[in-house]
Amino acid sequence: MVRTQVVDAHGLTLSGDRNRTEAQKLMRTSGCPSQSQHLIDDLRPAGTRCTVPLVLIGDDQRVRGPVIHQLHGLSEFSVCRTQDQERIRLCDRAVHTRAEHGSPEADTSDGADQQEDQRSAQHSTENCTTTAHAFHCRAHEASTECGYLETMRVIVTGGAGYIGSHTCVRLLEEGHDVAVLDNFENSQPESLQRVQDIAGRDLSIHRGDVRDTGSFADFFDVWRPEAVIHFAGLKSVGESVAEPERYYTTNVQGTVNVAQAAVKAGASSFVFSSSATVYSPEAQMPVDETAELRPGNPYGWSKRMAEQVLTDIQAAQPQLSMALLRYFNPVGAHPSGRLGEDPRGVPANLMPYMARVADGTYPALKVFGDDYPTPDGTGVRDYVHVVDLADAHLAALDAVGASSGVLTWNVGRGTGISVLEMVEAFERVTGREIPIERVDRRAGDSATSFAEVSEISRRSPWRAIRGVDEMVRDLWQWQSMNPQGYATGITNEAFKS
Ligand SMILES: NC(=O)c1ccc[n+]([C@@H]2O[C@H](COP(=O)([O-])OP(=O)(O)OC[C@H]3O[C@@H](n4cnc5c(N)ncnc54)[C@H](O)[C@@H]3O)[C@@H](O)[C@H]2O)c1
Repeated sequence: MVRTQVVDAHGLTLSGDRNRTEAQKLMRTSGCPSQSQHLIDDLRPAGTRCTVPLVLIGDDQRVRGPVIHQLHGLSEFSVCRTQDQERIRLCDRAVHTRAEHGSPEADTSDGADQQEDQRSAQHSTENCTTTAHAFHCRAHEASTECGYLETMRVIVTGGAGYIGSHTCVRLLEEGHDVAVLDNFENSQPESLQRVQDIAGRDLSIHRGDVRDTGSFADFFDVWRPEAVIHFAGLKSVGESVAEPERYYTTNVQGTVNVAQAAVKAGASSFVFSSSATVYSPEAQMPVDETAELRPGNPYGWSKRMAEQVLTDIQAAQPQLSMALLRYFNPVGAHPSGRLGEDPRGVPANLMPYMARVADGTYPALKVFGDDYPTPDGTGVRDYVHVVDLADAHLAALDAVGASSGVLTWNVGRGTGISVLEMVEAFERVTGREIPIERVDRRAGDSATSFAEVSEISRRSPWRAIRGVDEMVRDLWQWQSMNPQGYATGITNEAFKS
């Protein structure tokens, strides 16, 4: 649990509940809108500019990001935050010195740092241009260049995969330091080369298997992530019925292993890729997070079990906050056309299959069941653009950084679209004809699945902003530019093996 200390303009240190109340009061009297009970919410006036400079100061020279994210829109502040302690300084101007900061705990740097601190003692935050200034507060540096930037060290397992690669782009774009752990079982290292090209920044890549702790323990030890986003896993419902033990080993044991490594490395935020398949196929729609969890297949059970594992680990390790994200149907691709879904073999999902019908790889789209109790008889799903989904991970990082415990969010658009409506949209947007072949229902498919998304909306500013046309347009661009997926154009010789 992060403790917050607020230091006001006069050096008065406030603590406990009073701290929050006082901070809110200071916000209000200084022109910051205050509508919520929560300090962080108070600091998030959605585009409103606040005239109060804030300095959050910490003592282990690490900048923690979530708070800064929440602070977007404020005019002046800077943030340093540690894993177990966070201090907020409100002052008339953003001039700060070690003496001003001065608390015994904060004074932990060595002599060289102190000299540097003295040199920078009279800097305003606007003038702090090096990372090695007082308290090594990188947020200061960022604030001079591009507004308010956080940096966290984030390990992304499965980062080379479909959702992971899009999330890595967004993390890098937001200034985080990113390291990927992947065994490339269902992905190509080429995707990570492209991630770096798009973001214009490098990430670290570690080949390892989440089932084998020995293959990544050192990587966690060296990298010491502040946050872990755990995508690595298997995701085919049909495969999970045929090979349940493989699914439980990777998705459940793999999650135990990654969570243990995160705890050992001292991470404070953990975001997990769960799935709408944890709900009962008969659940009432839209389904919310409190609905009964009764998966209809081993894949869904593996996600359900992993959620339970993480919930129990969080209870035992309260310093590690968790977000369980239950994705509905991620589709689309990066708008550059350079990242997308690259399934091995015949695609099991509607949209990648449809794209291959459109480019002539397959003659027709099989529509599994046209006698469901839905408006046109075909299955209804909640499709969400993969870039929106990637952004949901950043929102989750913010939220878990600002709270403790376990957050559970559906991630979808909250709207159901039928197979035939998707076919119609695809034809309209791409101008390609999609021949369809109506066949029997597939075992295990439900008629309708779409999310109640009020929880994520309530707890974060995230919204799914990309509609069906963008999903189709971006998917088609990816498919057209990469007919053989990532094998179409390996852009880095080193990644060919
Ligand atoms: N795509 C979807 O429709 C969907 C829906 C709900 C949940 N999810 C979940 O989201 C996560 C990411 O899905 P995705 O669509 O990006 O899948 P993906 O297969 O494209 O990505 C998964 C990544 O994990 C890696 N991986 C697999 N097993 C591994 C192991 N043992 N060790 C290390 N790396 C391993 C793969 O190589 C791949 O890069 C998965 O956990 C999946 O279950 C996906």
